[in-house]
Amino acid sequence: MRRPFIAGNWKMNMTAESGTKLIEELKPLVKDANCDVALCVPAILIPAMVKAAQGSNIAIGAENVHWAESGAYTGEISCAQLKEYGVKYAIIGHSERRQYFGETDEGVNKRTLAALAHGITPIVCVGETLEEREGGVTEKVIYKQLKDGLAGVEDVTKVVIAYEPVWAIGTGRTATNVQAQETIAFIRKTIGELFCPKCAEKVIIQYGGSMNAKNCKGLMAQPDIDGGLIGSASLKTEFAQIVNYDNYFEN
Ligand code: PGA
Repeated sequence: MRRPFIAGNWKMNMTAESGTKLIEELKPLVKDANCDVALCVPAILIPAMVKAAQGSNIAIGAENVHWAESGAYTGEISCAQLKEYGVKYAIIGHSERRQYFGETDEGVNKRTLAALAHGITPIVCVGETLEEREGGVTEKVIYKQLKDGLAGVEDVTKVVIAYEPVWAIGTGRTATNVQAQETIAFIRKTIGELFCPKCAEKVIIQYGGSMNAKNCKGLMAQPDIDGGLIGSASLKTEFAQIVNYDNYFEN
């Protein structure tokens, strides 16, 4: 019922040249995917990557977006600027934005509402740190991120949520299938409480945090996991193996 969605997050990696080369390599490998496919790329690469992906099933997304229409916000990018290039998705509230650049739930909320108003699908990231998991407050932390980050959203089914345990990002440490499923089921239940149970059944929830060609099948087999937000493995053709998780038997 929910169409799986695998998205890459290039972070501050790649150049126009290496990115174009990778997309050219990925195009034939992902063309028969049974899921939606996107690559979220650094803002400066968006025009070149949109061109590289043209005519393929790879959508291009941004790694952030500002809430204002325009104005004095040095270094930020507006929805209109993204839309001009046909950008379909924007990652919002990634833990690296929260950790290194002071992103708050309030900022996440403003960015999310702006993206939705412009027809850009926000990929809203939530997740706990290792300290929070070990302190037994994972659900409390995620509940707040969802409640405050999604406040005022009219149609939550237009939002993609990415559950990214901070301790699993870029560390090679993945949440076990059971941990990921449990927390994502909690996210779905919370969406049901904050919005409506029917919407909760429809909303796409991805897992992110060292998802790779080897572990994607087990994670994707979990009933509440609808996709992945892939960091380092999206910088190589391994990304295609994840996209084809349902017919990739080599590992
Ligand atoms: P990773 O990153 O796959 O390199 O752990 C995931 C993410 O930060 O979205």
